[in-house]
Amino acid sequence: MSVYSVPSTSQPPHLAPLAPFDLVIFGGTGDLALRKLLPALFHRYADGQIVAGARIVGIARDERSDEAYRGKIREALIQFAGEQAQQTEVLDGFLALLSYRRLDLSSDSGWPEFAAEFTDAERVRVFYLAVGPDLFGVVSDRLQSHGLVNPKTRVVVEKPLGKDGVSADAINDALARVFNETQIFRIDHYLGKETVQNLTALRFSNALFEPLWKAEHIDHVQITVAETVGVESRAPYYDKSGALRDMVQNHLLQLLCLVAMEPPSSLAADAIRDEKLKVLRALRPIENGNAAAFTVRGQYKAGAVEGRAVPGYAQELGAQSLTETFVALKAEVKNWRWAGVPFYLRTGKRLAERVSEIVVTFRQVPHSIFEGLTEQDPSSRLQPNKLVLRLQPDEGVKLWLMNKVPGPGGLRLRHVPLDMSFAAAFGGRQADAYERLLMDVVRGNPMLFMRRDEVDAAWKWIDPIRAAWAASAEAPRPYTAGSWGPSAAVALIERDGRTWHEDAS
Ligand code: BG6
Repeated sequence: MSVYSVPSTSQPPHLAPLAPFDLVIFGGTGDLALRKLLPALFHRYADGQIVAGARIVGIARDERSDEAYRGKIREALIQFAGEQAQQTEVLDGFLALLSYRRLDLSSDSGWPEFAAEFTDAERVRVFYLAVGPDLFGVVSDRLQSHGLVNPKTRVVVEKPLGKDGVSADAINDALARVFNETQIFRIDHYLGKETVQNLTALRFSNALFEPLWKAEHIDHVQITVAETVGVESRAPYYDKSGALRDMVQNHLLQLLCLVAMEPPSSLAADAIRDEKLKVLRALRPIENGNAAAFTVRGQYKAGAVEGRAVPGYAQELGAQSLTETFVALKAEVKNWRWAGVPFYLRTGKRLAERVSEIVVTFRQVPHSIFEGLTEQDPSSRLQPNKLVLRLQPDEGVKLWLMNKVPGPGGLRLRHVPLDMSFAAAFGGRQADAYERLLMDVVRGNPMLFMRRDEVDAAWKWIDPIRAAWAASAEAPRPYTAGSWGPSAAVALIERDGRTWHEDAS
């Protein structure tokens, strides 16, 4: 059953043009800049939100002219920015906003000349640090010592923010020496995804869900972020990180917070962040005593993904390693609303499918009047309602209900989804998370960014899990690339009489 109840709209999204601003990308030739940041900026230029007069400056270590930089970015946009980048005039207009500066982060050379280019103190100035976290402090100090920090300055930092609570604290201290908390934008790009924002909209703009949103009516929640990609060239970074730090500490925990938080009093950034923080602080600790029962870690070995043979993690890395590329865990939020409701989280590389979704499973009806039917027709067996928010691919929302099979043949029931695909319902281009987030930085809206205390609280929960793993003699469980991870992850949820959600519609 597919119900597209929202009429397709040809209305353009609201894209109020922003006053010209300066945006400087440290790491201006890196992967993130080429694949995500510049395509996102380009789309917002093509849609009219970034206007002529804005300046985008790429910074890297090599000698390169503005023209050469624009040429490089042109190629990247043609590759990563879809149809809009086929319009030469628009592409040329955007490239004209770009320039390149070579800067050595380890010395002051070139900095005075660079600083002299920023004379307008009234203009918003964004410094995006798309470089390793060990450089965040160094760059911040130089920005300050060269007079580039004023009240209109904002700094954006990418995860990973450290490798544990202690190192994150040191990074945050270094940033705080130069910037106020309101000037620091810690990106978790999952918060910019349409469906993730829609979770807040669904929960708090419909009277339907909130009365049911608690232990009394919800059996459990699943959050899956499955990827088919391996680590490939990122192996040297990834090996120091692993799935727990790379995905769970930030993306999955943020999703959990948005599902579990109390209704904030308003949309004010701090009202939402205060509620998320309470969830993080209410998570039941996983440590030595319970880590073996509540967590599973895995590492992929050679296999086939989407019909293609792929090597194992150790082969990609060129060494044996104890780093996990898969994690499944059972979290619990210890408060009145969620007591006894497990949140099962799982994420991994080289899994069978690329799919990210949040599945909220409601409790069974308290009494079934359909038992007789099930005996004649086992598929009429009652199954619980589920609300599935699909983050990717095919963003949308499904509400699984029991329904009568139409037509003759007596009363037969089936579990079928009320299905709203965003593409079908709203049409148009699906904006990448970075578009919204970058525009929010320029606008100075921190709602979708992580506050320092959230990062701290997330590490406080993650660190004991790592410590427990380090103390155990067990290695990550191997799983074949192209599977759904180690069988222990299936056992983790089946022990509780539940199964991982599979969309059979
Ligand atoms: C990043 C991780 O933060 O998110 C990557 O470092 C991961 O390892 C990526 O692949 C996933 O993002 P998305 O938007 O493709 O789900």
